Amino acid sequence: MKSHYATGLKQRGSTIIYVVLAIIILSASAGVLFFKIKSPPKAAYEMDMSSTVPVAVLPEVTVYKSATCGCCSKWITHMENEGFKVVSHNKDDMTSIKIEAGLQPELASCHTAFVDGYVIEGHVPADDIKRLLTEKPPVLGLTAPGMPQKSPGMQPEGDAPQGYDVLAFDKAGQTHVYTAY
Ligand code: CU
Ligand code: CU
Repeated sequence: MKSHYATGLKQRGSTIIYVVLAIIILSASAGVLFFKIKSPPKAAYEMDMSSTVPVAVLPEVTVYKSATCGCCSKWITHMENEGFKVVSHNKDDMTSIKIEAGLQPELASCHTAFVDGYVIEGHVPADDIKRLLTEKPPVLGLTAPGMPQKSPGMQPEGDAPQGYDVLAFDKAGQTHVYTAY
């Protein structure tokens, strides 16, 4: 037969266990809540879905230019403003790069760039390169021969290209107008 004393002890014991359990559950929920509030905002790539051209899908551009070429650096800035990641290399001998790229001399400009297997020569607007990467035509690349005055890198950034043709060219040196500005 149990004594009142023993029953009292048992009841007190279970009350303590319930209180301890309640405290553990409460602090666990508070912890979860705290971390939910403190959790960081969505990653940049998740937030960028609203932009017209998702930055993540644009391939990296590799540019070769002479160290002193100012318009080349401005073209790189234009490309970066348009969402491209650009890796730039300064080269003394630009001629050999252009020959290796399969460029005929009359198609040459200042810098020579490579993106996704295509050659980009000179002041080609980023929009043409985005179109090239979407359409993927069977050409070697695009060129804006010479140094068109109203082209990205040659005029204030944001001004519309004007008064020149961007040409698509192939290995045989055949060209066609890709975009007429
Ligand atoms: Cu230039
Ligand atoms: Cu250049």
